[in-house]
Amino acid sequence: MNSLKEIHLKIKFFWGSLFYFKYTPHALLYSRKRDNIERKFFKRSTEKGFNQPGKIIRTELTERGANFYFELAELQICFLTEDFVRVDWKPGIPPISYAIVQQDWQEVKTQLEEIENGFSISSAKLKVFVQEDGSLKFCDSSGQTLREELPPSRKSEGWLHQAKLRQEEQIYGLGERFSSLNLRAAKDEKQQPKTYRMWNYDAAGMYGPGSDPMYLCIPVYLSLYSSGSYLIFYENSFDANFTFGETAVADFEGGSLRYYFTYGVPAQLLERYTELTGRAALPPLWALGYHQSKWGYRTEEKIREEAQAFQDRNLPLSAIHLDIDCQVGNRAFTIDPDRFPKLGSFTQELKELGVQFIAILNPGIKYSRHSNLFLEGQILDGFCKLPNGKLVVAPVWPGWCVFPDFTNPKVRGWWSRQYQYLLDVGVAGFWHDMNEPAAFIAWGDRSLPKVTQHYMEGRGGDHREAHNVYGLLQAKAAYDSLCQYHPQQRPFLVSRAGWAGLQRYAWTWTGDVECTWVALRTTIATVVGLGLSGIPYSGPDIGGFQGNPSAELYLRWFQMATFFTFYRTHSSNNVEHRTPWTYGEPYLSIIRQFLELRYRLLPYFYTLSWEATQKGYPPVRPVFWSATDEPALWSVEDAFFLGDALLVCPIVEERARSRQVILPKGHWYNFWNDAVLKGSQQVTIEAPLEQIPLLVLAGSILPMEEKKQLILHIYPPVEGNSETLLYSDAGDGYGESRLDKFCMTRSENNLEITWTEEGKYPFAFISVSLHLHGIKPQQAWVDDKEVTCTGQILEFEDSEGLAIGNRFHKVRIQV
Ligand code: GLC
Repeated sequence: MNSLKEIHLKIKFFWGSLFYFKYTPHALLYSRKRDNIERKFFKRSTEKGFNQPGKIIRTELTERGANFYFELAELQICFLTEDFVRVDWKPGIPPISYAIVQQDWQEVKTQLEEIENGFSISSAKLKVFVQEDGSLKFCDSSGQTLREELPPSRKSEGWLHQAKLRQEEQIYGLGERFSSLNLRAAKDEKQQPKTYRMWNYDAAGMYGPGSDPMYLCIPVYLSLYSSGSYLIFYENSFDANFTFGETAVADFEGGSLRYYFTYGVPAQLLERYTELTGRAALPPLWALGYHQSKWGYRTEEKIREEAQAFQDRNLPLSAIHLDIDCQVGNRAFTIDPDRFPKLGSFTQELKELGVQFIAILNPGIKYSRHSNLFLEGQILDGFCKLPNGKLVVAPVWPGWCVFPDFTNPKVRGWWSRQYQYLLDVGVAGFWHDMNEPAAFIAWGDRSLPKVTQHYMEGRGGDHREAHNVYGLLQAKAAYDSLCQYHPQQRPFLVSRAGWAGLQRYAWTWTGDVECTWVALRTTIATVVGLGLSGIPYSGPDIGGFQGNPSAELYLRWFQMATFFTFYRTHSSNNVEHRTPWTYGEPYLSIIRQFLELRYRLLPYFYTLSWEATQKGYPPVRPVFWSATDEPALWSVEDAFFLGDALLVCPIVEERARSRQVILPKGHWYNFWNDAVLKGSQQVTIEAPLEQIPLLVLAGSILPMEEKKQLILHIYPPVEGNSETLLYSDAGDGYGESRLDKFCMTRSENNLEITWTEEGKYPFAFISVSLHLHGIKPQQAWVDDKEVTCTGQILEFEDSEGLAIGNRFHKVRIQV
C-alpha cells in the first residue's frame, strides 16, 4: 500500500471511530442505569428446585404416548411421528410456540410397557425407556441405544439437563457460532470444554476467535457417532449455557424443559426439524445473485455511481444495500429526502439496471416527541416497559431509544404497517440490524434489562424469555407485511438476530466479523453450523466487516462466498470502500470470473433453494452430510458441500497455492481440469490465485445458464446410475413451476441420459447443450437419431435433421 493511501485510511479510521465515541456518554449512563434497574426489580425466585424428580408415582396413557407423574415433576412423552418425539418436563413456564409451525401430526401407534425399574413407551421405530429415577434412554427398533439422559434437575426457575456422550461423539449446530464446526472440540482458556451461551449478542463492531455468544442462538444440536446421529431441539428461549464434555449439558435459566428428539442421517434430521419449525420459502431468484453494500454510501448519487461502476466493468449485480447513514438520524423507516430526493424513480432506475434496493432498519425507536413512530407506539402502549410501568430506554444508533414489544400481536401489526410506504416506492427488501436487541453499553450485558416486561401473547413474561425471540418476531412482522403489501412478490428479508424458525421469514449474515484469515476460515463453520440449525440462507460480509483486507484475503474470501447462499460484500464506515475492483488487476478479473460462475450456477442454486422448501436441507452442507460413516470427514471444517454435487475447498491461508482435500467416498472430477480422483483419500490440489479447489461428484449434472441457454455439465458416474433435478419458474411470484428430471446411466461404453418433465411452467431456455466432462464421445444419438459431436459438446438447437426443438427424451453416447 502506498503511504498516501495509508494516511487516508488512518484518517478514515479516526473519523469512523469518533462516530462510535459519540455514544460513549450514553453507554456509560445506560450501563449504570441498567445495573440499578436490575438490582431494584430483581426478585429472587422462591422456587426450591430439586436434584432429581423423585420416583414415579403414576403413569397415564395418552393419545400419542404417556404421562409419568414423579414425586416432584411431571413428564409427558408424545410421539409426533414414529421417529420424532416431544419430551416435556414440568414444572416451569411452558413455551409460547414461536418456533413451531406443525401442530397436527398424523396418528402414531404407541405402546406402554412396565419393565424392571421403570417403563418403556415405544412406536414402531423408537423406544423411550423411562427409569424410576427419571433418567431416559432412547433406542431404535433394533434395541440400539441412541441417547441416554440423566435425571434432570430443577434449579429454581430453570432446568439442568444432561446426556451421556460417547467418546467419539461430535456435536454441531446451536445456531450461529464462531467456533470449531464440531462444537465439542473447542476448549476455553483453561482447556476445559467451551461453554456456548444462548443469548443473542451484538458483537458491537468486531468479533474474532473466541467470540461467544453471537447474534443468532438456537438451542438445537446434531450429534454424530459411528453408528448414527440424532438431533435435539430445546423449545426454551431462556438464557442458557451448553457444554459438551463427558456429558452434554444444557442449563436453562427458566422455563419448562421441553425438547424434541429424532434420529437418522443428517438429511432426515433436518427434514424432521424443519417440518416442526418450518422451512424457508423460495426466495426471489435475484436474491441468489451478488449484493453490494457499504456503510457509507450516504447519497443517491453515490449509489448510482456504484451501480454504474458495476455496469461499466461488466460485473453482474443484483442488489445494493443502504445502511443507516442513508437514514435521517439513523432512524428506522426513514431515508433522507434531501439525499434521496426522488426515491420512487431512483429505485425504478436501479431496477432497470437489474439492481434491487434493500433498506436497513433497526428496532430501536428514537425516544422523542419529534418521532412519529414513538408517538404512534405510545398510543398503542406498544413499547417494552419496566415492572414499574416506565419505558425501557437504552442507547442505539438514533440516540436514546425505546423498543417495540414484538411479543404483542398488536405491536407486530403496527410494525408491519410501517413497511408499506417504502415498499410502495420500490424498496425490494429489508435488512434488520441490531435486533438482538442491541444497546450500547460501557460494561455488562449489551441488551435491555432482564427485568424488562413483555406481553408474551397475553400471558406476560420478562426479557429473560423474550430476548432470544425478539429478532424472530420482528422478522415475522416484516414477513407478514411484505406478503400483505406485495402479494405478487416473494419477501426478501435479512435479519441479524433470530431464533428457531427464523428460516421461515428471513436470511441472515454473520455480522461484524474481523478481516483476518482466521475469520475467513471460521466463517465456513459458522455458515455450515447455521445450515445444520435449519437456517439455509447465510453468508459473511465478504472480506470481513472491520478492517481492510489485503487484496489476496478479499479475493480468497470472495471465491469462497461465491458458493454461499447469501453473497454480499459489506464493510464498516471507517474502512476503505470495498468493491470487486478495489484491488485492481489481476484481482478484478478473477473476481469477475467468480461472479460470472455464480450467475451461471444460478439454476443449480435455485434448485437447491427449491429443495430447501421441500425438505429443509441447507444448500451449504458439511462434508460428512452424505457420508456419516467416514470419521475422517467429521471434523473437516475448511471445506463444504454446495448441494450434493459440488465440494468447495476454499483457500484459508495467506500465500497458499495448493491445499489438502479429504475426499469423501465416490469419484470426483476436478472442476477446473476434469481430472478424476478416487474418493476416500486425502489429496493435494493446486490453487493458483485464479482458483480454489472445486470438485464435482461423479454422477452429477450441473445445470448452468449462459445467455438464456441451458448447459448441462455432465460428470458421468463411473458405473451405475444417478438422478438430477432442475427446478425453474418465473423467478418471483407464485405462478407455475416445472421440474426437469435427468437420469443418467453408465454402462461399459455407453452413457445414457433420459429427460422427463413435470409442471406447467414453460421451458424457459432458448437452447440446450450437453458438456461432457471426463469422457470423449465417439458417437451420439439424440432420441434415436445419430448426431455429430464436436469435441466434448453436444448441441441440440433446432437444426436440420434434428427436429428435437430445445429438449430431448433420451441421449445415448458411445464413449
Ligand atoms: C452493525 C451491523 C453492520 C452495520 C452497522 C451500521 O454493526 O452489524 O452491518 O453496517 O451496524 O448500521
